[in-house]
This record gives sequence, C-alpha cells and structure tokens, in this order.
Amino acid sequence: MIIAVDGPSASGKGTLARRLAQHYGLRHLDTGALYRMVGLAVLLSGGDPADEAAALAAARTIDLSLLEHPELRSEVTGGAASKVAAQPAVRAALLQFQRDFANENGGAVLDGRDIGTVVCPEASVKLFVIARADVRARRRHAELTRYGVEVSYETVLADIEARDARDMNRAVAPLKPAPDALLLDTSDLDIDAAVQQALSLVDSRLAELKLGSRAVRNRP
Ligand code: DC
Repeated sequence: MIIAVDGPSASGKGTLARRLAQHYGLRHLDTGALYRMVGLAVLLSGGDPADEAAALAAARTIDLSLLEHPELRSEVTGGAASKVAAQPAVRAALLQFQRDFANENGGAVLDGRDIGTVVCPEASVKLFVIARADVRARRRHAELTRYGVEVSYETVLADIEARDARDMNRAVAPLKPAPDALLLDTSDLDIDAAVQQALSLVDSRLAELKLGSRAVRNRP
C-alpha cells in the first residue's frame, strides 16, 4: 500500500504523513528533506542552488549526515531546496531512490509535491493537502519563533508565496493535485482534527478499492 501526500509548504502534509504511517504501520519518507539536503549541500560549499552543475553534483553524492544539520529546516534551506528542485536533472537523480523506498516492504507513506503525479502515480491513495497562505505563514512563523529564529510574519508570508509560485510554475513535476487525489483543506483544522479527516478519507478510499477488486473478481 502506497499513500501519497502532496501539498504546499506548511500545509500540514508532513505531520499528516507521519501520523498516517504510524496508524497503518508503514514507513514514511519526507521527500522534501531530500531536496533540502541537496540545497543545503550547495549552500555549505559556497555554491549557488540555481547552478545546475553544482546542484546535480550534490544530488548524486547526497550526504545523509545533513539530515541532522541544524539548518536543514530553515527558510533559507527551503528556498535553496525549491531552486534545486526546479531542475530536471536533480529530480531525475532523486527519483529512483523515492520509488524504491515506496515499493519496498509492502509500501510506505511519502510526502512531497509530485508523489501522486510523478513518483508513485500508481499509489493506492493520494491526498492533496492545502491551507490558505496566511494560515500557513502563521504556522511557519510560530514554528520559527519556537526555534528562536527572529523573523517577521510578513517575511515568512512572502517566502511562502515565492516558494508556492516556484513550485507550482516550474516546467517539470510542478505542484498540482493528481486527477484522482482527495483534497484536504487544513486551514480551519487543528492537527488532531486534520488527522481524523485524513484517516477517514484514506479509509473510505481503501474500502472503495476493496469493493472494486471484489466486483472484478465476482464478474461472470
Ligand atoms: O516540503 P518541504 O518544504 O520540506 O520541501 C522543500 C522544497 O523541496 C519545496 O519548496 C519543493 C521541493 N520539493 C519538490 O520539489 N518535490 C518534492 N517531492 C518534495 C519537495
């Protein structure tokens, strides 16, 4: 069973994907962390994330120790991730790893931007998680403040809007719902309510799939 969870930054998709993985006993891959590691590696080496040669070299030699780096979750790294992610060669270099992860050991939950459309178009269930930009900026601002980062709400909102525009308008694997994705708007939901809605969407999709396969088996 593969569950694809896509959506823009700070929509809640990461937390939802983790909670779904726990609930269904599946492994979880945060694919944004892959692009963040690539973006951060380029920044740490003094390079420009928009430079295709530098980004591709970082994607080919991905350094997993960067998962523990204190800057991995920063807004600057998020921006760099979004720039390396717009490059087709970088996306191609990370594709097989994501597909292998999804298909090993009976499935997984993957969250990102193009899981339902490109990485796992065959996923059993696809969720597309959205929230208004102002709500996402407030969430991200509160999170950064908790980490002791001093930044204004307006700056966070502008960063989120710039990243949305880059992720949605790029030529390759843009952020968009798959035609068979189930939409979940978390703007007015707290995390527990969002998890409950996600579980009920996934359960009803799984029930439909079961009914569908029974109907096929029982066809005369
Ligand atoms: O989910 P996140 O904010 O950690 O992702 C960081 C960036 O990586 C995001 O701006 C776009 C990119 N990304 C992507 O293009 N495709 C994915 N499957 C996951 C992330």
